[in-house]
Amino acid sequence: MELPIVDQPVQAAPPATHFDTGPRSIAAVKVLRISVTDRCNFRCVYCMPEEGVRWLPKDHLLSFEEIATIVKAAIEIHGIRRFKITGGEPTVRHGIVDLVRMLAKIDGVEDLSLTTNGMLLEDLAQPLRESGLHRVTVSVDSLKPDRFRAITRTGDLATVLRGLDRCEDVGFDSLKINCVTMRGTNDDELAEFARLSIDRKLTVRFIEYMPLGDAALLHPDPKASGLTSTSSIESQSPGLNRVASDELGPVGGCGAQDRGADSLIPEAEVRQRIESELGPLIPVDRSSEAGVGPAQVYRLLLGHPRDPRDPRSPRGRIGFISAMSTPFCSTCNRLRLTADGVLRSCLFEGGEVDVRSVVRSIDDPARRHQAIAHAMSECVRLKPDVHSYRGNEQMSRIGG
Ligand code: 5AD
Ligand code: SF4
Repeated sequence: MELPIVDQPVQAAPPATHFDTGPRSIAAVKVLRISVTDRCNFRCVYCMPEEGVRWLPKDHLLSFEEIATIVKAAIEIHGIRRFKITGGEPTVRHGIVDLVRMLAKIDGVEDLSLTTNGMLLEDLAQPLRESGLHRVTVSVDSLKPDRFRAITRTGDLATVLRGLDRCEDVGFDSLKINCVTMRGTNDDELAEFARLSIDRKLTVRFIEYMPLGDAALLHPDPKASGLTSTSSIESQSPGLNRVASDELGPVGGCGAQDRGADSLIPEAEVRQRIESELGPLIPVDRSSEAGVGPAQVYRLLLGHPRDPRDPRSPRGRIGFISAMSTPFCSTCNRLRLTADGVLRSCLFEGGEVDVRSVVRSIDDPARRHQAIAHAMSECVRLKPDVHSYRGNEQMSRIGG
């Protein structure tokens, strides 16, 4: 059957024969990450500027039906079974519970999860659970209320933690916490975060800070960097300073200053810091687990020799996502869909294929599915061998 011509990729894909297997083949794709909005009720310092973010025009956003169409094509033609809803902040998309219900009902959706900043979870946990959502990940970068506020600019830690509790209460399994580790910002809290995995059945994942898009990061020493502190938030939390307002870039970001090198705490250092306070971390064998992602997973050893009844057995796990110190591109099994309907091959760079125009321009369902599937195959072929050190696009558009 003749395939319709899909939108031009950003760069030309290499010949198909090179990529029938391996991470650049569509057969390797097991997860589709779906960003449902670029908007957010937080303004995390590493993600968005405080003001002046330009949002995607509403009519560019994929409708729920369009998202469902793409999901169906991914399942039927490429056998993708795992879907992650992201943002921006997915819970600020009006009707998110309806979208979850719609996607959860699709035959072949085996795993449907959502990554959220947790601010609206207290009310949403139950309806999300009832709508068929399988798993939730909550982003928490500090356990200190003032610092949490300084990092997120608008977030409230207690509200987010109540949302997390609510998720446990309504029966979400495999709860995860994402913590972006940043030197000079939250590196004195690593063991506190790890401790959460002792009493709670959740996975605390430490994510290496990635310099993406126009993101700017709080800098520990404004004098050393020549920055002026311009917000009262910083004065509440000494050591946290953001870029000066005249450095703000034009579109949804802070002007692409390179703060990455100072801010990155390599995984090895995070592990060492945790182990020096809490004892050894033991790798968890996940070979029998389905759909293993990019995280390296451990648990604290604590009491030793081990006894299953040892009250100090940790209930949870500790994961590391270390795209900077250990790029995992060679085993990458995901594809990303932005809220405005662009397939993105990599978090860090290039490789985009517009699928919105495909979805909107073809009426015949079978041809539309084929064309969407074709766009996906084209997009994966654009994955880089190893991603570059800086990302060219904003996290709030790509969704992590
Ligand atoms: N570097 C590392 N992690 C990031 N996240 C957002 N921006 C960055 C960044 N620049 C995290 C969010 C969320 C996950 C999807 O990615 O905090 O937990
Ligand atoms: Fe919002 Fe997530 Fe970006 Fe923070 S990191 S501003 S919660 S999208």
